[in-house]
Amino acid sequence: MVAPMRVGVLTGGGDCPGLNAVIRAVVRKGVQEYGYEFVGFRDGWRGPLEGDTVPLDVQAVRGILPRGGTILGTSRTNPFASRDGERSGVEQIKDNLAGLGVGALIAIGGEDTLGAATKLHAEGVRVVGVPKTIDNDLGATDYTFGFDTAVNIAMEAIDRLHTTAESHHRALIVEVMGRHAGWIALHAGMAGGANVILIPEKPFEIKKVCEYVEHRFQTRYSPIVVVAEGAHAVESDLAVSEQGLDSFGHVRLGGVGQMLADEIEKRTGKEARVAVLGHIQRGGTPTASDRVLATRFGVQAIEAVHDGASGIMVALRSTDIIRVPLSEATAELKTVPQQRYAEAEVFFG
Ligand code: F6P
Repeated sequence: MVAPMRVGVLTGGGDCPGLNAVIRAVVRKGVQEYGYEFVGFRDGWRGPLEGDTVPLDVQAVRGILPRGGTILGTSRTNPFASRDGERSGVEQIKDNLAGLGVGALIAIGGEDTLGAATKLHAEGVRVVGVPKTIDNDLGATDYTFGFDTAVNIAMEAIDRLHTTAESHHRALIVEVMGRHAGWIALHAGMAGGANVILIPEKPFEIKKVCEYVEHRFQTRYSPIVVVAEGAHAVESDLAVSEQGLDSFGHVRLGGVGQMLADEIEKRTGKEARVAVLGHIQRGGTPTASDRVLATRFGVQAIEAVHDGASGIMVALRSTDIIRVPLSEATAELKTVPQQRYAEAEVFFG
């Protein structure tokens, strides 16, 4: 009898609501339809690097559809920055996959995880990618799961902050995630009726922001300023500090919200306070829309493995799930186009 195919699954990079829905779909379809066995790798690329595995069968994925986070754990380990004595990260991964009898790998991740998957495919590892990021900034897919959940969490926070801001006649600054792309800020700010939305793609003038804030006070409303963590002022003396690098060389951001609150208070004389939403945006249960997208990605990813595909990623194009080369997925970051920002600007001030 031929041994069943063994498929490895890993989740890398920042966690994201919907990861468990992908894992569940991959395993359920893989076991039911193709009789595959699965090997779960712990903590992103660290798992295959160190051969650290977790059992992954139908029982293991029961009840995880609504759960946030990832049952496999995650990390920002960069396999191409790893060495074990004489062996490079790629050699370690290849040896471990061969030792475990894993014939194909499903890598669920963002820019960095999929970038590593692209290089591993070039080195002869069979790999299928699934895009994830709350930032929605991956080029080759219309949407990533996790984004809708993050936007809804941020929108709810804005709704709540409106009522407390009104009561105290304060400006409230809401800092959301988004290192290079302002999609969360744009969508949450539009949905929550922000006074002004500041995104990394468009450096802001602090003077103009203060004019919007003052105008909102004049019309007897309290302003809500939504700012992406990666947004920055035109004025170079208002730069915020960066807090170290991760293993892929990304800076840890933080501080733009506080800087804005300080400047607004100083320049308008009105009290301004900041709420930094941080990892709350990534935590907890995914929305229905994210669960469905994640499930569809999972189903199509295992289908791609079954077809013998490698070096591809599943992607959403309009309402269809298609396959695109992995290299395309990470080629260009999807940032907010000017005309989309202009639609939001109508409501500033
Ligand atoms: O890429 C997703 C993301 O949530 C970004 O929006 C944010 O800048 C980053 O991850 C934060 O990373 P960490 O959880 O490692 O601090």
